[in-house]
Amino acid sequence: MPVLSPDTNLLNANLVPSLGGPPHELFDQWRGQDPVHWNPPSDSYVSPMPGASVSQGFWVLTRHQDVYEVSRNQQVFSSHDGGPIIWDLEPQQLAMQQANIMGMQPQNHAAVKRLVLPAFGPKELEPFYPQVDRVAKEIVDAIAPRGQCEYVFDVASKLPVYTFCTLMGIPEELHDTVFKLGNAAADTENPQRSDEDNSAMLKLLALAADLADQKRRQPDNSMFSRLIHGEVDGEKLDEITINMFFVTLSIAGHETTRGTAVHFIRLMHEHPDQFELLKSDVDQYLPNAIEEVLRYSPPVIKFRRTATEDTQIGSQAIARGDKVYLSYPAANRDPEVFDNPHKFDITRPNANKHLSFGTGPHVCLGARLARYQLQALLRQIVTRLPDIHIAGEQQMLQSIWFNAVMNLPVAFTPEA
Ligand code: HEM
Repeated sequence: MPVLSPDTNLLNANLVPSLGGPPHELFDQWRGQDPVHWNPPSDSYVSPMPGASVSQGFWVLTRHQDVYEVSRNQQVFSSHDGGPIIWDLEPQQLAMQQANIMGMQPQNHAAVKRLVLPAFGPKELEPFYPQVDRVAKEIVDAIAPRGQCEYVFDVASKLPVYTFCTLMGIPEELHDTVFKLGNAAADTENPQRSDEDNSAMLKLLALAADLADQKRRQPDNSMFSRLIHGEVDGEKLDEITINMFFVTLSIAGHETTRGTAVHFIRLMHEHPDQFELLKSDVDQYLPNAIEEVLRYSPPVIKFRRTATEDTQIGSQAIARGDKVYLSYPAANRDPEVFDNPHKFDITRPNANKHLSFGTGPHVCLGARLARYQLQALLRQIVTRLPDIHIAGEQQMLQSIWFNAVMNLPVAFTPEA
């Protein structure tokens, strides 16, 4: 593994693929000597989003405590000013980000969250679980007799998209369209994107508007219909918020859940002792194994905050307007919180202290659903394809945002 200079710039989209994951050696150096590290802009970085750039540098947080506290303090570290992503956006792009739940100003965010939160709670979600189980089983049914497949798109990617379609009450004949659009919209940084892919977000927005019209006329029991007709203090969500929420969900729950299902297989392949332990008692070990995968290989590399006033993080002065980069991979390997943090251990007692779902007001709304989906799918795989292993070269996404594998050939004994 190459030795990284402490001046390594995180705006190198090839850094994560070239190392096979986040630069932990670098994060350890910074955490020890320079825990709130200044990352300057990079001349060579070109944003995949036309018009967006990274013209301003940013502070990278590597300590668990700093990522935790900054994530919980929206008043001083805003997701709204500048938006939640590290790119410096053009005004119209920023307005789109700010209409989205992840970038709303705190008052609007609190109101929208009150309305949507119950839909992600156990009472509303549990009735959907049998459908998630069915989707997971069908995905594995389709590959089990084949003995090999490309795991990212034949398996892992299908689960979040088809679950999303089921939850939102999207008619069956549109599921494949949503699968294609969801992949294209989520993989913003994929260099093989076509012009058609670039329009995926707008197409999803149009699809949301059509579907919302149908559900307004004919309510059903889907999460989307309940969001459209639901009220808090006598108020409904407005149209743009509803449609943007649909698009956000189609993207937010996608690459993330897919990525975790992929890292799971990758890590079990690389740690056969842990895979054997898991298979010795799947019921006992699976939930914590998923937490440890999330801790060890978080699919999201970072989100952003912007300081609303002159302040301090640890002993580092931060000026009003400065950008702050919340590094989830670095926080998750902080030895102050996790003993022997670079060890992959599915029995780790505090694995779920990871920050891979964020924390604070913008904590992942879909964490419960993601955990359920992952358990449903991975239980099918581990019990039905117990000798699944990597059978070719993996390809990682060139990205500063996602720790994502884009191609993972696997093989297993075909199911009779
Ligand atoms: C393993 C899977 C997932 C991971 C690792 C993940 C990660 C995250 C992270 C780190 C955030 C915090 C953003 C911030 O603080 O700025 C977030 C927010 C969010 N996630 Fe997830 N996510 C996952 C799955 C899902 C799923 C399945 C859904 C829904 C179907 C979802 C919906 C959302 C939404 C709506 C937000 C915004 C919440 C807000 O701003 O109030 N996520 N997610």
